[in-house]
Amino acid sequence: MDDPDAIVAAAAAAFAAAADPAQLEQAKARFLGRQGRVTELLKGLGKLPPDAKRAAGARINAAKDAIEQALADRRAALARAQLDARLAEEAIDVTLPGRDRGRGGIHPIIRTWQRVEAIFRSIGFDVADGPEIETDWYNFTALNNPENHPARSMQDTFYVAEKDADGLPLLLRTHTSPMQVRYARMHAPPLKVIAPGRTYRVDSDATHSPMFHQVEGLWIDEQVSFADLKGVYTDFLRRFFETDDLQVRFRPSFFPFTEPSAEIDMAFRDGRWLEISGAGQVHPSVVRNFGLDPERYIGFAFGSGLERLTMLRYGIDDLRLFFEGDLRFLRQFA
Ligand code: DAH
Repeated sequence: MDDPDAIVAAAAAAFAAAADPAQLEQAKARFLGRQGRVTELLKGLGKLPPDAKRAAGARINAAKDAIEQALADRRAALARAQLDARLAEEAIDVTLPGRDRGRGGIHPIIRTWQRVEAIFRSIGFDVADGPEIETDWYNFTALNNPENHPARSMQDTFYVAEKDADGLPLLLRTHTSPMQVRYARMHAPPLKVIAPGRTYRVDSDATHSPMFHQVEGLWIDEQVSFADLKGVYTDFLRRFFETDDLQVRFRPSFFPFTEPSAEIDMAFRDGRWLEISGAGQVHPSVVRNFGLDPERYIGFAFGSGLERLTMLRYGIDDLRLFFEGDLRFLRQFA
């Protein structure tokens, strides 16, 4: 019979040589497996006389226990080594600088949008919101642009492939003015509202973007005059630009939806006059399309470009900067 102590020593050496759990299990099979050396010893016991069997059996069992103990120790050692390796690999260096989430900022146009809302809210204007895909009727007809009149082509319009329920064209609104009509038809006078939002025209250069922003204003009551328009709008500009040192002028102009109509210009810093808004007294036909009696209700409307207001406020000379997403530009407003 092989010497059990020699087998224990051989097993211990084999286990120690196993570099990972798979090798260790193979080594185990060589000693404790069905054809392993310890198992072979046990099989040989049957041939021994009873006394010798008992003594040899005890020795073999002791050797088996010792081998199992060595196996368990080696298993634990390998597991510990594996864990140590993982811990070392996944160690976190708490002294490294943190990963920055990158704090977001409010886009300059939206800053203007919010500012305009705050100013008009403070003088009792409601704020309304409406669809960017608009019907031909709200965008043009209701605003007194006669059917097939060249006024419709004054604005280069993006038309949508689908038609509305009546088979009429749908388009991306070319201005926020349709919101006058939508709001008026859903509210009872006095109407005092602004409607900021996105607008679209086929146009693109340093001062025009195919998508841009306007804010529409409307005040309709029984006795709202052009003087109120001048007062409200001039006060708005002073508060928006945070200075009383502003010159404002109302220059005669034409819009189909107002009569009389005006272009509002502003002189700023260098004394140059810049157009800032269209405005006027709402045309009686438009008041009728509000569902109101133009003999009783009167008022004014205006439509201003949020890009223009933003460019003047911050001294920006190229409108494309707003839409290019260049962080060097945008961070200045964060
Ligand atoms: N809708 C006009 C435009 O986009 C701007 C405008 C002019 C709006 C006069 C008005 C207004 O409400 O009264 O050019």
